[in-house]
Amino acid sequence: MKTVRDIKTLREIVQGWRQDGENVVLVPTMGNLHRGHMSLVSLAHEQAERVVVTAFVNPAQFGPNEDFENYPRTMETDRRRLSRAGVDVLFAPTSEVIYPAGEADETRVCVPQVSTILCGQFRPGHFDGVTSVVCRLLNIVQPDIAVFGQKDYQQLVIIRRMVSDLHIPVKIIAGQTLRETDGVAMSSRNQYLSDEERAQAPAMFQALKVCRVRLVGGDHDYAAIEADGMKSLQEAGFSPEYFCVRKAGDLSAPVPGWRYLVIMAAARLGSARLIDNMLVEL
Ligand code: PAJ
Repeated sequence: MKTVRDIKTLREIVQGWRQDGENVVLVPTMGNLHRGHMSLVSLAHEQAERVVVTAFVNPAQFGPNEDFENYPRTMETDRRRLSRAGVDVLFAPTSEVIYPAGEADETRVCVPQVSTILCGQFRPGHFDGVTSVVCRLLNIVQPDIAVFGQKDYQQLVIIRRMVSDLHIPVKIIAGQTLRETDGVAMSSRNQYLSDEERAQAPAMFQALKVCRVRLVGGDHDYAAIEADGMKSLQEAGFSPEYFCVRKAGDLSAPVPGWRYLVIMAAARLGSARLIDNMLVEL
């Protein structure tokens, strides 16, 4: 596996593959890889001959009081893991490579409306930071396919929308959420939990499951279901931000009878902010 830090070298490598008729799949990450990320790498291998993983802690998607400085950076471990997994190139640029004019002064990419609801309401500007970097990464690597996790469901919906609106010639593929045995979705931010908080954490998955049972059973009193979801998170020791039932396609409010739903939750537990979701097909 090659580790590449500049755009020119990366483009030369990708061009060489293309001349040999090989397809390229991209897996964007912020590093600090866990088994959830690695499951996306496995999925990527099934999609194309060549796999590029990016590891870049993107300053543009962190708010002023968020964990950018403390976000875990584990480049050497990540590199070894990706190499063992047969990844062709790890692209690990600095901020200066991605934002040569300085992040604050550069072109931003913003998907309106859907970026301002749910997590966007609690993390203003976060998704503009995500789309601004993902658009750059897609332009730099120019992959045929890019893989994103369903774990960050709103991010996935927003990226699909950006790719469609900007006519970016890439196919977006979603990977399932990998969970610990007790149901907690794997996340770099789980390391912020104390032992006691970690023991409380499965309650979010439990609340999603209870909600799914109600929806599958034909309950479409979404307001009551959402209020009960908030309550169960609170009772489990979380400070919930939202617990919502939405249309899976565009995250708008569902009408009774809508078949493709997603239940989404975000809550603070100690110093960690956890998100999770569950798709429901009726
Ligand atoms: P990061 O949080 O590192 O996640 C990278 C990718 O891994 C995302 O597509 C995310 O949805 C996926 N992922 C995270 N936890 C997962 C799990 N438990 N199971 C399966 N996939 C999981 O998301 C980002 O980085 C950034 O916003 C990024 C898209 C890289 C832009 O900076």
